[in-house]
Amino acid sequence: MVQVELIKEDIVRDEDIKELQEEIRKLAKEKNAVILAHYYQRPEVQDIADFVGDSLELSRKASQTDADIIVFCGVRFMCETAKIVNPTKKVLHPNPESGCPMADMISAKDVLRLREEHPDAEVVAYVNTNAEVKAVSDVCVTSANAVKIVQKLDSKKIIFIPDQALGNWVKRHVPDKEFIIWQGFCPPHFEFTAREVMKLKERYPDAKVAVHPECHPKVIEIADFVGSTSQIINYATTCEAQRVIVITEVGLRHTLMKKNPNKEYIFPESMNYCGTVYCCTMKGITLPKVYQTLKEEINEVTLPEDIIERAKRPIVRMLELS
Ligand code: 13P
Ligand code: SF4
Repeated sequence: MVQVELIKEDIVRDEDIKELQEEIRKLAKEKNAVILAHYYQRPEVQDIADFVGDSLELSRKASQTDADIIVFCGVRFMCETAKIVNPTKKVLHPNPESGCPMADMISAKDVLRLREEHPDAEVVAYVNTNAEVKAVSDVCVTSANAVKIVQKLDSKKIIFIPDQALGNWVKRHVPDKEFIIWQGFCPPHFEFTAREVMKLKERYPDAKVAVHPECHPKVIEIADFVGSTSQIINYATTCEAQRVIVITEVGLRHTLMKKNPNKEYIFPESMNYCGTVYCCTMKGITLPKVYQTLKEEINEVTLPEDIIERAKRPIVRMLELS
């Protein structure tokens, strides 16, 4: 039996992890719940998920599931997306405090102002936006499909929100369009510096460098490969190099090691005071929180109906275009 006081304290001793995981899986079966997790989740949380994926794959899974409950181990905008694409389901977010700082860097009001200033432009919203922002956007993208989708749009002028790094990456690949790029950024990904990556390259000259497009353009410049978390996993585990320098949140290491433990994955460590760059809000989801949320069916994600309806259009358009 899981010790209640430990759950309340949000603490789990190493020797209790397995037991708690089993309890969560048992509950999920009893309640016909599906557990979805992003790659940046803690390893022990990834291990209880029915599916671990990048933002695009997770939104697809959420739209297709016939489970009664979706427990979403990720940040708020991901849970909102799940609710928007499958509104009859009960979506539970194990930590309602876990938002995405980049998503909070733009509001619906900001987007409406940009629309007024550029009435001939289409608004392309990175999926890392709040539901109200999606509701006033034309199409969503993720880091896995942004270039492809923007290339397919008819408009010659694009308002890209909120991530400046992904916006610049897309702009580079779609030179025939004009871009207005919002200056938001991902705090953890902006911690990586070109200097630090160059140092790693010097230390491991045989290694390939895989970078997430939320990184600073100077870091992206050094990359052998740029892609979403899933795309990085695919590249790093299958490329010829025996060593891969991986420039994204450290949660990815878990899947990399599971998929291909024979390779060496090097994550930068030098620049951050705690030794590795991690997304604290992603790490705000813990096993005790997942257990309590599912057991008591608390922390339900709710959105006004009109927001669901309006935010659904750009997400569905993305799923169709990709
Ligand atoms: P992807 O998993 O889509 O690459 O996104 C990374 C991310 O920052 C999610 O918040
Ligand atoms: Fe947001 Fe960056 Fe964390 Fe992703 S990694 S949830 S973009 S802060």
